[in-house]
Amino acid sequence: MTDYRAIVQELPKAELHIHIEGSLEPDMMFDLAQRNRVSLPYDNVEAVRQAYDFTCLEDFLGLYYAGMQVLREESDFHDLADAYFRRAEADHVTHIEYFFDPQAHLDRGVPIGTIMGGLMRATREARERGIEVSIILCFLRHLTEREAFQALEKTAEYHTEFIAVGLDSSEVGNPPSKFERVFAAARDLGFKLVAHAGEEGPPEYVWEALDVLGVDRIDHGNRALEDDALVARLRRDQVPLTVCPLSNLKLAVVDSLSAHPIKRMLDHGLLATVNSDDPAYFGGYVNDNYVRTARALDLTETELAILAENSFAAAFLGDATAGR
Ligand code: ADE
Ligand code: ZN
Repeated sequence: MTDYRAIVQELPKAELHIHIEGSLEPDMMFDLAQRNRVSLPYDNVEAVRQAYDFTCLEDFLGLYYAGMQVLREESDFHDLADAYFRRAEADHVTHIEYFFDPQAHLDRGVPIGTIMGGLMRATREARERGIEVSIILCFLRHLTEREAFQALEKTAEYHTEFIAVGLDSSEVGNPPSKFERVFAAARDLGFKLVAHAGEEGPPEYVWEALDVLGVDRIDHGNRALEDDALVARLRRDQVPLTVCPLSNLKLAVVDSLSAHPIKRMLDHGLLATVNSDDPAYFGGYVNDNYVRTARALDLTETELAILAENSFAAAFLGDATAGR
């Protein structure tokens, strides 16, 4: 039997689709709740894990936004990011581009300096240990375009720390075109652009992310495979797809890992990568995503090496120590 775990551990990898708030493990959630006197609707850590039984993205997002309420102080944001970086380093990840959701914290009264102070300190420390780390500011797409502009303004002091802006949260009913102007403004400010599209939303949303927003990468992109012309476009332009197999399984985007489209993406010549999305909620960090998918789809060692190489080809490499 192929020792996928050893093969994957050996490969250097970049992780490009990880929501730092989605790396909040139940243990840390409980510790921070106590430290900050935030009450949680769970009696113990086991009850939290039992609640992670989602049937769709919306189910998950409710718990994700509730969980992050425990993040209050600079040290909370530091400890959260620090724990994730160390976990990624143990998985032989050498380059990280992580998302954070400023609106989800600003809107509950956490100052931008508190959020960024903690994230930047952990980021700096990780860089000092030798890994490349960049930060991506995500807009919440269930909120308005105006609110996205406000988020861009409120984070202005830290813009040089971000390599890109992204778009996440509830996809269906919130098409990329809703954010056309704020993405144009972000491009003018020099940001790279990414957007979640085709996770639950239709292929049209992937087209919009490409043609209306002008993104450099698509986050997820699973449903692009329903549209042959879109597949041809993604192949022609080698648009990276940051795919998240265990997330797709937990959120019922696929029925089983053996039905996961990542092998078909490779067969189509697409630049697919493997990522963990919200590892504390979906039952695995990046190596678990590679290994469980490889077992389910019988991936070859060459396919695993291609996926790892793709992760660097898809990365915003360059001077990752300086943000932009
Ligand atoms: N925010 C955190 N994880 C997400 C996901 N998988 N899709 C959309 N928004 C998210
Ligand atoms: Zn995501």
